[in-house]
Amino acid sequence: QVAAASGHTVVLVDQSDEILKKSTKGIEESLKRVTKKKFADKPEAGAEFIEKTLKNLTTSTDAASVVHSTDLVIEAIVENMEVKNELFKRLDKFAPEHTIFASNTSSLQVTNMANSTTRQDRFGGLHFFNPVPMMKLVEVIRTPMTSQKTFESLMDFSKAVGKSPVSCKDTPGFIVNRLLVPYMMEAVRLFERGDASKEDIDVAMKLGAGYPMGPFELLDYVGLDTSKYIIDGWHSLEPNNPLFAPSPLLNKLVAEKKLGKKTGEGFYKYK
Ligand code: 3HC
Repeated sequence: QVAAASGHTVVLVDQSDEILKKSTKGIEESLKRVTKKKFADKPEAGAEFIEKTLKNLTTSTDAASVVHSTDLVIEAIVENMEVKNELFKRLDKFAPEHTIFASNTSSLQVTNMANSTTRQDRFGGLHFFNPVPMMKLVEVIRTPMTSQKTFESLMDFSKAVGKSPVSCKDTPGFIVNRLLVPYMMEAVRLFERGDASKEDIDVAMKLGAGYPMGPFELLDYVGLDTSKYIIDGWHSLEPNNPLFAPSPLLNKLVAEKKLGKKTGEGFYKYK
């Protein structure tokens, strides 16, 4: 959405036409929200902006067949290293020499993914934040093999889509999640111990620390499955780090498919 809105030609790839239809509808709705604010007193310019953006966006279920004409591939699939590596390995065969590959991973090692391809120097991380149309940050991740030219291209692309990039080494959680995920897990543990209600913890962090959302609202917003993938991955890397300890409550909610806002229930109910 943000790439198309800033004039880039985008092909959105997913597994089925049904998912693509749902994604396109989500983008259309989000564009309406952005437009309502951006072109508040110019509805015609707003309609033109939506039309232009949607013209820049096509969809496909066949990544290999579209990658031959792309300058940048941004992967945002399931947080599973094997699945990601398999995809990158396949795309590496079809993409032109100059094409840069980037992962939007929240917590997995980008270096590992780069090593599944033959373009380690043209590989990096581009980590966006929910909701991407609103959040101004992108973390640009350099592996030890990312070339200076690739790094600069990723920084330039981030600016060209209207974001403010920061750079970080390929370290677990990069900057934001390394601080944010342990904080959210601490909130869950505080609640699990019965020290405070989740409602009060949320109010406390909003009114006492100026956060736009409380930790439970944010966990539900990000998705409990995503948060669990992250914490489980880090726990397996550093089993003795108490900040990365799994939470029985989070595990229970995920097992019950209560994944947050997207499934209608997580820590809170949504209707
Ligand atoms: N698309 C377009 N516009 C959106 C939007 C979206 N998805 N979501 C919100 N907006 C805009 C709209 O203009 C909306 O107005 P509308 O309701 O009239 O359409 C406006 O924002 C205000 O939204 P809300 O009234 O719903 O609420 P807020 O003023 O609180 O803003 C928020 C919403 C920007 C999401 C704010 O609550 C916030 O900043 N929350 C924290 C988000 C955060 O911390 N994100 C990082 C998560 S971590 C992550 O993503 C990393 C990953 O790896 C796990």
